[in-house]
Amino acid sequence: MSSEKQPTKLWGGRFTGATDPLMDLYNASLPYDKAMYDADLTGTKVYTEGLNKIGLITAEELSEIHRGLEVIRKEWAAGEFVEKPGDEDIHTANERRLGEIIGTHISGKVHTGRSRNDQVATDMRIYVREKLGELVKFVGEFVKVIVTRAEQEIDVLMPGYTHLQRAQPIRWAHWLSMYATYFTEDFKRLKQIQARVNQSPLGAGALAGHPYGIDREFLAQGLGFDSVIGNSLTAVSDRDFVVETMFWCSLFMNHISRFSEDLIIYSTAEFGFIQCSDAYSTGSSLMPQKKNPDALELLRGKAGRVFGSLSGFLMSIKSIPSTYNKDMQEDKEPLFDALRTVEHSVLIATGVISTLKINKEKMEAALTMDMLATDLADYLVRKGVPFRETHHISGECVRAAEEQKLSGIDQLTLEQFQGIDKRFGEDVKDIFDFEASVERRDAIGGTAKKAVLAQLKNLAAQVNQ
Ligand code: ARG
Repeated sequence: MSSEKQPTKLWGGRFTGATDPLMDLYNASLPYDKAMYDADLTGTKVYTEGLNKIGLITAEELSEIHRGLEVIRKEWAAGEFVEKPGDEDIHTANERRLGEIIGTHISGKVHTGRSRNDQVATDMRIYVREKLGELVKFVGEFVKVIVTRAEQEIDVLMPGYTHLQRAQPIRWAHWLSMYATYFTEDFKRLKQIQARVNQSPLGAGALAGHPYGIDREFLAQGLGFDSVIGNSLTAVSDRDFVVETMFWCSLFMNHISRFSEDLIIYSTAEFGFIQCSDAYSTGSSLMPQKKNPDALELLRGKAGRVFGSLSGFLMSIKSIPSTYNKDMQEDKEPLFDALRTVEHSVLIATGVISTLKINKEKMEAALTMDMLATDLADYLVRKGVPFRETHHISGECVRAAEEQKLSGIDQLTLEQFQGIDKRFGEDVKDIFDFEASVERRDAIGGTAKKAVLAQLKNLAAQVNQ
């Protein structure tokens, strides 16, 4: 019964009728699970091959079924599939249509021994596996773009921050390499999840297993799964792969959000380190001078939406009894939304980072001599003074420069340095060079040119696997 036919009943005595039209709408997942039409048809194709293998479907019936499934596939692809009332979800819609094409005397056999419970779990895993495959490509490309940019701009220095306070000079490429490292870990994590997703629930039946001895290994192989889920109850009830995928999406968006926040700060007039390209900015409807980093703000904002998908679905399933319960249908919308959001976000972030302009002069002008106070302490360490002592001595130099209203510690004379500590020598002036400071940090992972280049090379190699 369609809701269009009985609009009054929808809001009227809706609890009295045998079929509540609102319940039809409430129950239906077709509006969103049709995204999995291809996986569903493929699942049925291989499942019926399995049925043929155990003698429950003849070769002729199988070829009719395959023909019908192809017709349906084309209809969906062309946007010509006609949805009908009673099509509760993609599984029932496809089966109903198959009956119309090849006759229900044959289509009525395809569900033998199968349940929508193992069917939906199969479809979801196929769908997620494909989406993760696309993300692997996109995230790999994103890392490569960051790495290439970093290699090209290896000579640019900027302040590194802790607590958003200037801390020590670093290379801009080192900052880029930091995020490339996060995203490379995301790339690797994605591949680990792919392996866990790619297990077959098909042939588990509603929950208890298959009564006709279907060859589950055969089904798994036919569908490109790496293995069979070893317990039929787990096979139909497990949505950990959905949770894990949304967790991946959340963690990735967390990295994207921090990356965006840094760039938003760097793009302010106060910093002026970078400028987003016009392709990823918009103006203000009121203030003509404004150029806003909208893409970065959306990337930061959409992280919240993805976290919500994860936590919402965890709430939905946290107390459901074993095995399948309709609560589990709530897996789809948040998952699809999270995947779509992440896919768009990685592409936008790639666009932003490949087109933004840096202002090298502004970055380097933001370096101040006080950022070399640690280097000054290290200078005395190299002369054998314990670091705790040199830290204190360097602090005194900073204070002396401040008290004398000098522009920086480099303006203290040798006599003044020696007045604070006799072990300062003529060569102390060599400390006050940002490039030299950066180049001293040449251990693995550091900001020296060779260390950063090694990181970049390593990252590129990891995403090329
Ligand atoms: N549309 C359902 C879902 O997405 C399919 C499984 C229905 N199973 C059932 N026993 N009602 O979860």
